[in-house]
Amino acid sequence: MNTYETILTRRSIRSYLDTPVDPGDLKEILEAGTWAPSGVNLQPWYLVAIQSKEKLEMLGEVMERVSAKIEPSLKARFANAPAVVDETTQFIRKLGGAPVYILAFQLKPDYENTADMINLSIGAALENILLAARDKGLGTCWLTAPVEAEVGNELRDIFAPGKGPLVALITLGYPAKEARVPKRKDGRYTIV
Ligand SMILES: Cc1cc2nc3c(=O)[nH]c(=O)nc-3n(C[C@H](O)[C@H](O)[C@H](O)COP(=O)(O)O)c2cc1C
Repeated sequence: MNTYETILTRRSIRSYLDTPVDPGDLKEILEAGTWAPSGVNLQPWYLVAIQSKEKLEMLGEVMERVSAKIEPSLKARFANAPAVVDETTQFIRKLGGAPVYILAFQLKPDYENTADMINLSIGAALENILLAARDKGLGTCWLTAPVEAEVGNELRDIFAPGKGPLVALITLGYPAKEARVPKRKDGRYTIV
């Protein structure tokens, strides 16, 4: 698959097979994250890949609470679409049954640089991860729900003590089914 095709065919995957991810593939995917560009080459990310049964259970316990916490706001937002509420809360609770999760933290608790610069750099690492995974036939979904549900510090204390805030969680595994393709909106770029 060429790079352009990888970019266009990457989708957010919310349902996974329990097929394990090859350790060599996982290492290459994390490595791809670390080759992202970053402001003044700070490389301000710290990535934790979770795959052991014990750690998955610890994450699962926190995600149960994330799901319960966001359910009321989803119900209010999608009052006419209970199926969307069900699907989203189920996904957040079980994370689609993915065999691996990557938590992305800021490397340091504080930076002198702007939060934009730090978070954009971490976002670049996350996109590299998504594309490297897609290139290997693996699916991903980038989630900020745990940050929005304010369990970031709890996850940091469990999985990355002493590091900075949680920025996102990525699910990783082989897709169980083909994802729908959310439409792209017009008017998002111009050439002058
Ligand atoms: C910063 C960010 C946060 C996201 N948070 C969530 C999330 O919490 N839950 C979720 O199911 N998807 C989340 N997504 C995935 C988006 O919903 C998805 O990228 C978008 O609908 C477009 O679909 P596609 O990725 O298949 O192209 C997030 C994506 C980004 C970039």
